[in-house]
Amino acid sequence: MAGSTVLGMGHYVPPRTVTNDDLAVLMETTDEWITQRTGIKERHWIEGDVGASELAEHASREALAEAGLTAADIDLVLFATLSPDLNFPGSGCLLQARLGIPGVPAMDIRNQCTGFLYGLKTADAYIRSGMARNVLVVGSEVHSTGLDISTRGRDVAVLFGDGAGAAVVGAASDDSRVIDTELHADGRFAEILMVEVPASRLNPRLTVEMMEAGRHYPKMDGRSVFKHACERLPEVIQSILQRNGYTLADVDVMVPHQANLRINEMVARQLGFPADKVVHNIQRYGNTTAASIPIALHEAVQQGRIQKGQLVLLAGFGAGLTWGASLVRW
Ligand code: UT7
Repeated sequence: MAGSTVLGMGHYVPPRTVTNDDLAVLMETTDEWITQRTGIKERHWIEGDVGASELAEHASREALAEAGLTAADIDLVLFATLSPDLNFPGSGCLLQARLGIPGVPAMDIRNQCTGFLYGLKTADAYIRSGMARNVLVVGSEVHSTGLDISTRGRDVAVLFGDGAGAAVVGAASDDSRVIDTELHADGRFAEILMVEVPASRLNPRLTVEMMEAGRHYPKMDGRSVFKHACERLPEVIQSILQRNGYTLADVDVMVPHQANLRINEMVARQLGFPADKVVHNIQRYGNTTAASIPIALHEAVQQGRIQKGQLVLLAGFGAGLTWGASLVRW
């Protein structure tokens, strides 16, 4: 089997823009603090009741159109999210219903910022083994309604944005292909970035006291996550290049997960990789976790920054901890 390739992509963010100055009205923060520490200037937040599967549908329909396919051509749906519409069933099932393809298998991937890369690897394995022809891989998140939008939660609330990115992955027919994806996880550090409740390990799972203590909001040891990211990302990037016989000099464009502009600049500096070959869009979207790599990748393609034949490196790091990288011949 020749392997898999990205046949088409789509992305979508809700129309409402929330600037740093808008947040400064709601909590003690400043545009200066957010910009200096993270690079973020604004993010998109949903209005009303909008779940992750709704954002995903927009991105998926665009990806299908770009691929020249219809939903009926999809034989597996992989939905990466940390903010599913419901606790269960998974958002993959909801998206499958929205796309009108009953019977097609749908799976959720719970790997946070690395979720899209886990999806890409799974799609590649299904296609290589002949178990699927066209796989829809989506990363979609609604963070805004799950954040502590007050001074108590400001260290996390200013970081996250809502959005979705999707890729239709199918059989490679020329040199364009997913060359390799390398994935990792280390659950020893699960609690440095998590939403704790409602939790099946607690009985009861959710109480008023837990909510008053804010345990249903994301909690992060930011400095520790930052440090792990700056160590693991260069490591996995060097590893995937080495095991496929490439060096950094062969890479035309790097599309990293968008968690913090400073992390990505530091990783590029550590590797000695040219800053102008790294794609950033965190300034406009904040951190959209599982959606961030496909949104940034699709934008870079649309802007002509990624051309057919180029070697593209994707890299992600997030809660779990999870991290990984993909090498794609575009
Ligand atoms: O995608 C998932 C992976 N996530 C990440 O990769 C995030 C990694 N971590 C980070 O990006 C950074 O740690 C942050 C951007 C989250 C924070 O930056 P930092 O330089 O590590 O700041 P800090 O947490 O050490 O906080 C510094 C100060 C604190 O005040 P004191 O204790 O020095 O008086 C915070 O209370 O900044 C304060 N602070 C804020 N001030 C204004 C925290 N959040 C805010 C805020 N506005 N929003």
